[in-house]
This record gives sequence, structure tokens and C-alpha cells, in this order.
Amino acid sequence: MDTVVSGIRSTGNLHLGNYFGALRNFLKMQRENKCFFFIADYHSLTTHPKPDDIHGNIKQVLAEYLACGIDPEIATVFVQSDVPEVTELYLLLNMNAYIGELERTTSFKEKIRKHPDNINAGLLTYPVLMAADIIIHKANHVPVGKDQEQHLEMTRRFARRFNTIYEVNYFPEPDAYNFGQELIKIPGLDGTGKMGKSEGNGIFLADPPEVIRRKVMGAVTDTGPSHPGEEPSEPVKNLFTIMKVVSDPATVKYFTEQHAAATIRYGELKKQLAEDIIRVTNPIRNRINEILADNKFLAKVVREGGQKARESASGTIRDVREIIGYKPF
Ligand code: TRP
Repeated sequence: MDTVVSGIRSTGNLHLGNYFGALRNFLKMQRENKCFFFIADYHSLTTHPKPDDIHGNIKQVLAEYLACGIDPEIATVFVQSDVPEVTELYLLLNMNAYIGELERTTSFKEKIRKHPDNINAGLLTYPVLMAADIIIHKANHVPVGKDQEQHLEMTRRFARRFNTIYEVNYFPEPDAYNFGQELIKIPGLDGTGKMGKSEGNGIFLADPPEVIRRKVMGAVTDTGPSHPGEEPSEPVKNLFTIMKVVSDPATVKYFTEQHAAATIRYGELKKQLAEDIIRVTNPIRNRINEILADNKFLAKVVREGGQKARESASGTIRDVREIIGYKPF
């Protein structure tokens, strides 16, 4: 059985794009692999060093993941800061991570541009901590999106470099988990690009029905097709893309034909789309609220998950110390 590691930042709630873009596929993945799912709460400090409520954020994201169907009975679900072994591996890997390669990382350069007032060492070494998260469990695969490909490439490089420097064949080089054709890109409601966290663009799994209705009714469209057969504009295509994942095929067919005939009323389409999104998200939202109200359950999940993760991580640390040459007196 292969090992999979996936980290989730503790900042930001899950949206429809996370769900259809990745999470839904995790349910099958967790049955076929030894999975470690964790909340990357150390990483969140690189951009939010003084969080308002880091505990609340961790709890919320954890509840949302569990509500989507991540099963703590079969996967190891834990919080990064409950596994201090990762910080030791991070320190050791830092000795063989070079300033030049860290400074060239796209995500780091982006952060410099966006937050020139807080360019800290944690941000620079973000990819080293991420590599430690992954290789501490000797992962074979990591489910990552496009934005994380470079980080995964660096993880492979750090693993390979460790093996080369200490002349061992210890860490596997993890690759991107291959979901085959299953990945769907969910666009945002603001007309361009994919669904994200920005206001007006995304629908969160925890959004109540009235919020979903307001957001969908406010989605960007166009002035409507001026003649039959006109190609839909990008914002309208985006609404159809979302509709294809949440609505039944007859609904999609109906509105596609209305558009093709230039008789479509976008208000009608949005009303239907909002109700179909609500139908999909309602059970998840109810489950999020149930889980959040059950602190006993959450405490049990992170306690048992943390224990399992520490067992795995401390085995690696023991080996790594021995490989480098630390010995008892
Ligand atoms: N950098 C990842 C993100 O922003 C989060 C992350 C931290 C991660 N450590 C990881 C993802 C390890 C996968 C494996 O989404």
C-alpha cells in the first residue's frame, strides 16, 4: 500500500471548488492508500504570525474536512503542531537547503510582492517545512494542485539530496497523486478564473442557503445572446460548468437549449443553480455544524491521529539521527 500525505492550511474555509476539485476524490484515495491528512497550522504562521483565533481556525477546517467524508477510522487525521518531530526534520533539512533555491521559489516571490512588510525566514523556508511534512512519513504521493507543483518538486529535490549527501537510499521521492480524469476545475462567480476565497467569487461549504442565493444571484453574466446559436461568454460558461456538477442533466440540457435559442433568462438559471448548490451543500453544512458541536469527537480524532502520526514520525527521526551519525554515549 502506498503512503499519501496531504496538508491543509488552517486559514480559510473550504469552498465548492475545494470540494469538487479535490476533496471528493480523497474519499476513494483514503481507501486505497495509507493516508495522512493534517492541518498545516505552523505554515499558517508564515503569513499570520499573530492569529486572532488559531484554535478556532483549526477546528473549523478540521470539521469541514471530516464533514466531506474524510474518515479518521481509516486515515490518520492530525494537527501539524501536535507532531513536534516534524520541526526537527525541518531543522535538519534546512542545513541542506540553499538560500538561492529558496529565494527563487515562485510562492516566496509572490509573498514578497504582496507582503513586503513581513518577509520572514519561515516564509523563505516554507518549502522545507512542507518537505518535512511529506517525507517524515516517507510518502509516495501527494495530492496537489498546480499551485503546489513547485513545492513538490522541491520536496523531491530535498529527499534526493538527503539520500545523496548521507549516501543512503532512505527517503522515497514523492510524486503528485494521479486522479486520472477525475479532477474538475470549478470557476468562480465573478466571471473569470477559478473559485477561490475572495469575496463574491466563492461559495463556502458552510454558507447558509440565504447566503448562497445572494451570491449566485449576484454572479457575473452578460447582456444575453443577441441571436440564436451565439457562443456563451466566459462568465456564462462558468455558471454552466458549476451547473454540470450540481444539477441533473435535464436541467443543464434545458438551460443550454434556452441559451442556444437566445430565449434564456439568466435570473431563472441562477435561481435553479442556487437551489441545486444548496441541495449539494446542505448535508455537508449540517454535518459541519454537528461535528463542531461535538468537541469530544474532535478531541478524540486529533488525539488518536496525533498519536499515529507521531509513531510514524518518530521512527523516521530515529533513523535520520542514526544516518547523520548521532549516537548515544
Ligand atoms: N502548501 C500547501 C498549500 O498551501 C499546504 C501544505 C503544507 C501541504 N504542508 C503540506 C500540502 C504537505 C501537501 C503536503 O496548500
